[in-house]
Amino acid sequence: MKTNKWWQKTVFYQIYPHSFADGNRDGISDFPGMTAKLDYLQDLGIDGIWLSPHYPSPFFDCGYDISDYTDIGPEYGTLADFKHFLDEAHRRDIRVILDMVLNHTSDQHQWFRESRSSRDNPKRDWYIWRDGKKDGPPNNWDSTFGGSAWEFDSVTGQYYYHFFFKEQPDLNWRNPEVKQVMWDAVRFWLDLGVDGFRLDAVSTVFEHPDLPDHPGQSLIELEQAGINAKTRVEYEQLEKAWQALFQYQIDLPEVHDLMKDLRQLVDKYKDRLLVGETDDIRFYGSGDDELHLIFNFPLMQADGPLTPAWIRDNQKSRLASLPPQAWPCNTLGNHDNSRVFSRYGEGKRLSGLPEPHPHDAARARLSLALMLTLHGTPFLYNGEEIGMTDYYLTDPSLFRDNSSTYAYPLLINLLGKTPEEALKMAALYGRDKCRTPMQWANAPNGGFCPAAVHPWLPVNPNYAEGVNVADQQKDAGSLLNFYKCMLQARRSAPALITGDFTPLHEKAEDYLAFLRTAPQDGQKCLVVLSYSEQMLEITFDLPVKRARLIFSSHAHHGQVELLNPLKLQPFEIYIADLI
Ligand code: NOJ
Ligand code: CA
Repeated sequence: MKTNKWWQKTVFYQIYPHSFADGNRDGISDFPGMTAKLDYLQDLGIDGIWLSPHYPSPFFDCGYDISDYTDIGPEYGTLADFKHFLDEAHRRDIRVILDMVLNHTSDQHQWFRESRSSRDNPKRDWYIWRDGKKDGPPNNWDSTFGGSAWEFDSVTGQYYYHFFFKEQPDLNWRNPEVKQVMWDAVRFWLDLGVDGFRLDAVSTVFEHPDLPDHPGQSLIELEQAGINAKTRVEYEQLEKAWQALFQYQIDLPEVHDLMKDLRQLVDKYKDRLLVGETDDIRFYGSGDDELHLIFNFPLMQADGPLTPAWIRDNQKSRLASLPPQAWPCNTLGNHDNSRVFSRYGEGKRLSGLPEPHPHDAARARLSLALMLTLHGTPFLYNGEEIGMTDYYLTDPSLFRDNSSTYAYPLLINLLGKTPEEALKMAALYGRDKCRTPMQWANAPNGGFCPAAVHPWLPVNPNYAEGVNVADQQKDAGSLLNFYKCMLQARRSAPALITGDFTPLHEKAEDYLAFLRTAPQDGQKCLVVLSYSEQMLEITFDLPVKRARLIFSSHAHHGQVELLNPLKLQPFEIYIADLI
């Protein structure tokens, strides 16, 4: 274990800064509130925090539109409050990484205000400005959130480029001054003591300098096809068409030189970490000269419940494709996606809102077990530990995610949906569903803020049905206590952290079995996850026949037992040392 880096051993927990803990009771989470919850996080057993953007922001893209890279949003407190949070986290051996948005700023950032003010402003070239063609934009590129990627600005009569919302103009990374000011911002936080960064949307940082038109369908056409798609083949075709659409806007090779440059900067500091918001393994570079971690997003992209075959296939291709020295990184949920509890439930329908299912709770436990036993650094998302579910807003005026606000009228006017259908679809498509406030207690507003205060997003009313921290802390059998036990089990078995991954029984449909073998001392952990509602009896053909229990979700009989046959309860999680 000594030779492993801290970030290889860490279990990360993503905090969504607007929704975690409201210290000053104004309906928005803040640093004093978050600091007060560090004991909770320490007790839970995580050892790293990824903080989604905490910077000043007009909040058009919920914080991913930054208007000052070297300060914190006033709603979260002061820079001193942040520093106190960081110090208190460190005092508890919890590392903190920040979100760094390199691709774009807010249109309210002083840099952009200056850039747009005149064609000869010194910051004009910090963003991507072009003349239009025949009264239209410079080319046919789309923004990923819909519509043209170009916005006409009447002040100077030119268009600027934005891969995301028009309120998020792209920086021009071909201008060395941009790199300099952004690296200054990176150094500002590293000097303050943060442990690294999650790099937002890294693959969009550069675009083709000649701005060629793409030859394919537009985004709205693909979205329409997406709504009607039913089969896996149709989804795969859509994925290809999507890649063709954005081929000149994503994954330009220059980004890798930039990442190498950033890595060299970060490596001047002791023990810092870069995690890329991408699944493209090219961002590992040769294994230790670009980013330390790249998310294994393909694992989470299952159409419905995770199956043993899906997980095995993912691990097989993913692990085989990593360069030597690269360390994997797994996640099943974040602020852009359906919550784990809802997403991998059996009640999910292909289109329409996922429905609750009696197996959801067991599957949520399996999802955690998977994260904590696969090879790689796990990232969990706040609220997952109490089984928070997606919450679909029932009134469009409550939308805070502008991708829903944008989709709602389009669904009615362009795609002919009724307002009721459009509301459901916009709520499902948007990301408010997974960003609602943390549910701390069975109290008004889930104990997040006082009854008389309107939280920035409504609290999911299921806090009153046991989906809250206080109730689950009192219940030994709760999901929260299960999280604690599993996190403890992981720490007690080094092979679960450092061990090589060897799949077993590769044809099994109703369970996933694998070994994790520690390179240092050869500790061998057997992990078996049952995805079956039946009892299972499994026989292993292994040289070792005896197993010492490390963890079972079902109070497995006996501490040391003969392996064959291994009898498992429905949905049992079984982890043992082979001795
Ligand atoms: C990825 C972030 O996770 C998402 O929330 C955001 O909208 C885009 N990048 C743009 O910054
Ligand atoms: Ca607050």
